[in-house]
Formats: sequence, C-alpha cells, structure tokens
Amino acid sequence: MIVSATEMLKKAVEGKYAVGQFNINNLEWTKAILLTAQENNSPVILGVSEGAGKYMTGFKTVAAMVKAMIEELNITVPVALHLDHGTYEGCYKCIEAGFSSVMFDGSHFPIEENIAKTSELVKVCHEKGLSIEAEVGSIGGEEDGVIGAGEIADPNECKKIADLGVDFLAAGIGNIHGKYPANWKGLDFDALAKTKELIGDLPLVLHGGTGIPADMIQKAISLGVAKINVNTECQLYFQEATRKYIEEGKDLEGKGFDPRKLLAPGFEAIKVIVKEKMELFGSINKA
Ligand code: G3H
Ligand code: ZN
Repeated sequence: MIVSATEMLKKAVEGKYAVGQFNINNLEWTKAILLTAQENNSPVILGVSEGAGKYMTGFKTVAAMVKAMIEELNITVPVALHLDHGTYEGCYKCIEAGFSSVMFDGSHFPIEENIAKTSELVKVCHEKGLSIEAEVGSIGGEEDGVIGAGEIADPNECKKIADLGVDFLAAGIGNIHGKYPANWKGLDFDALAKTKELIGDLPLVLHGGTGIPADMIQKAISLGVAKINVNTECQLYFQEATRKYIEEGKDLEGKGFDPRKLLAPGFEAIKVIVKEKMELFGSINKA
C-alpha cells in the first residue's frame, strides 16, 4: 500500500534503524525494489528524481505504474512514493499525480526563500496527507542535474526549517552524490550531533548513500538518521550484471536478445544490493 513516509520514519527513529530510499528508473527497477521489500518484510521508499520522472514519461505514469504494481504483486509492506530533490513546481506536479511524499530541495535558495517556499509546501502537503522532506546545506557532487557544493548544514538553519513542520530533514554533512573520491574526509558527525540536539526526534535523512562505509552508516543512525537514499549503487550493480551477460555472449545465444532475458541479470543484481542495504540499515522485519 502507498503511504506517506511520516509513520514509517517515526517508527525508525524509535527503533534506531533507517528506511532505505531507492531511486527508480523504469519497470524493472520498481519491481525489483518492491519485491525485495516484500520478501524481507521491510518498509521502503521509492525515490523519483525529476529527470527519472521525465524519462518514465511523467509523474502520472510513475504513480499509476507503482500503484498497479503494488496491487498485482500483492505488496503489503508500507511503500512511500517520494519525489527526490524536487523543485517547487515539481512538488506540485507530484502532489497532483498521486505521490505520497515529496522532497522540496530549496537548499540552493537563500535561507529566507527556502523557508518561505518550504513553509507553503508543508501546508499543502499536510492538507493532502503527504509527507515532506526539506534540505539544508547541500549534498556534494551531481545527481540527475542537481549539483551541490557540499557545504555543511548550519544546525541553527536546520532548526528553523524543522520548525516549519517538515516531516524529515536532509542535512548536508559532507555526504556526496555518486561515488566517493579516495580523499573523501568522511561524514561530519559533530554537525549531525548538533543538529540532532536542536531538532529532537525529527527524522534525519542521509543522501548519497552509495559507498558510505558500514560503521559510518551505523553511527549516523545512532545520531538520528532514519532515511538513507541510495541510487548510484543500484545503477552500478545493474551495469556490472548486464555487462557480464553481454561479455559472456549470452545475448547471442538462442533468444538471449529478448529484453526480458537481457535485463534479467540487472534486475536480480538490484535485488541483491537492495537487500544488502536493508540489512545494513536494520529495516528488515520492520514493516
Ligand atoms: O537523492 C538520492 C541520493 O542522495 C542517492 O545518492 O546516488 O550517491 O546513492 P547516491
Ligand atoms: Zn540526494
């Protein structure tokens, strides 16, 4: 069933685990993530970037696909359909399309503008039963055209945005979208702890979940992170499995060129990495 992410993340804060947000790109991605969540009795958040939404022809198509798939696959674990790094306009489109959650990424606006826009969207989302995520500071690197400088969030600004009534908050703490460079300094746990002190039990979100070492993930969860976003790692697993299939010449054997066969190893690979992340985040059997 599609639900807002509010309840599942409240439970995650209380239970000291995190729910994974896995970004989707197409039918295979969506099916692999939903089945893995169901098989492991885990709540899950399907993330849709604006670019991926466009690629899948539009947010209405995405919402219709996800809803139908949940019904036809008998998915009973809580599933949130969430706009990732949304613009102001994108949030309205997703609210209309039937998403259950949005992220308004106003991190590149001056803080007063971020506050004004976030506050308006909080009201609209809550009236319609959606959850809303906001961002302070920025996530380094690039994701689907969203480029961030990677500045560390100011805990006082986090408190200001938290007080607007957002349901969960992404704070930039040195995390980066995409692969981490060899000279990465790691997460800024002081900034995370200070933010946590000011915002209390509001769930925190860790973006750039690809490749963050397990000990850092666990420490982040102990400091209030209840949602962790993973995108690139699923793409890399899909790429590697697909490459292997082709390099082994399997696409040239019999009906190996059939897309249902060609895409199968990538599909299975996504299931493997999503399960691994659910284990690491502690969300298994928490549905
Ligand atoms: O918003 C989505 C993410 O923050 C995913 O980051 O591609 O580094 O896993 P990632
Ligand atoms: Zn992100």
